[in-house]
Amino acid sequence: MMKGDFPVGEFAGRKTPFYFYDLPLLERTLDAVRSAIGNRPLWQVHYAVKANANPEILRRIAAAGFGADCVSGGEVRMAYEAGFAPSAIVYAGVGKSDDEITYALELGIGRFNVESSAELLVIEEIAAKLGKVAPVSFRVNPDIGAHTHANITTGLAENKFGIFHEALPEVIRLAQGCPHIAYKGLHFHIGSQILDMSDFVALCNRINDLTARLERLRLPVGDLNVGGGLGINYEHPNHLPIADFKAYFDTFKRHLHLRPGQALHFELGRSLVAPCGTLICRVLYVKQGTTRQFAIVDGSMTELIRPALYHAYHRIENLTSNEPEQLYDVVGPVCESSDVFAKGVSLDACRRGDFIAIRSAGAYGESMASTYNGRPLPGAFFFE
Ligand code: LLP
Repeated sequence: MMKGDFPVGEFAGRKTPFYFYDLPLLERTLDAVRSAIGNRPLWQVHYAVKANANPEILRRIAAAGFGADCVSGGEVRMAYEAGFAPSAIVYAGVGKSDDEITYALELGIGRFNVESSAELLVIEEIAAKLGKVAPVSFRVNPDIGAHTHANITTGLAENKFGIFHEALPEVIRLAQGCPHIAYKGLHFHIGSQILDMSDFVALCNRINDLTARLERLRLPVGDLNVGGGLGINYEHPNHLPIADFKAYFDTFKRHLHLRPGQALHFELGRSLVAPCGTLICRVLYVKQGTTRQFAIVDGSMTELIRPALYHAYHRIENLTSNEPEQLYDVVGPVCESSDVFAKGVSLDACRRGDFIAIRSAGAYGESMASTYNGRPLPGAFFFE
């Protein structure tokens, strides 16, 4: 959506900051995923709920036929309440509590992505008590570094996630000896905001090697879940609003050696929802510092923590002004010097009350919001 397309007239009287969700863009994105997959009934995308758990967003994604990828009992509940079929819910996490495991077993979720042999034995014990059989995949640490921010790579040997690939034969045998565990497959995830397809090629190669090794040992592989991680273009939200799903799925089509009948699961989060969300704030004050000019807005790191936490770039636009551009540090009111959205950005000259758009904020924005400094959680505006 271009600057002039935001329905600014409808923002007046609304409490800022709030999240603006472009629902037609969300629908076009979901369509793009479906058409990039094409006619492959064994390929399924589970939306990573952590990216955005707003009930309306979840409801739309569930209605479009996607599954859900969850990382806590709370997310499993939110996904279920939004209409995702329990059998299409997968649940990962290094620290699943007994209550969470019990809830997910009772609901009948499709898959536990298990991250250690200790966790496997606890699931076996709880499933036995409930008289159930838990469908389990093992999350494998593929020891692959994705070219992304250090805080969001997950597939390296030193990360806490998954089971090191060398240990896999041993845990598969352990699962085969558990009467209340049904071993179903392998799960991977190498990181987030990945734009270089060669990272996914490396993952495919690793999975091919692992498959060959397990087959040599006459151990089952089952189905594959390659996680998420496809990045979006934060620089050009107006020109490239939809991620390159075709390049992404084609990478797996070309490089992953799937066996006949082998299902392939994906867990995309950011690429589905980041572009459709914009954080709308208002300028509170324009302040001339000694060396820089500040636009102090009413939004902050409590609504969108990505710039403060990862130095993430989000394009910023002044939706109200058409006056000549000036340079600003765009900052929030929170008492942390990291509460900065951007430094030295060029914006159409700002005045008190102008609406400021912080773009591509639909993923890991609202879902990471906090009430630090006694701030209320942001509201949402759904553009139909
Ligand atoms: N599957 C697993 C096991 C994950 O850990 C994640 C994300 C995903 C799927 C979804 O990845 P995506 O497609 O969204 O890249 N808060 C950070 C991102 C953290 C990602 C955590 N895991 C950020 O704002 O950049």
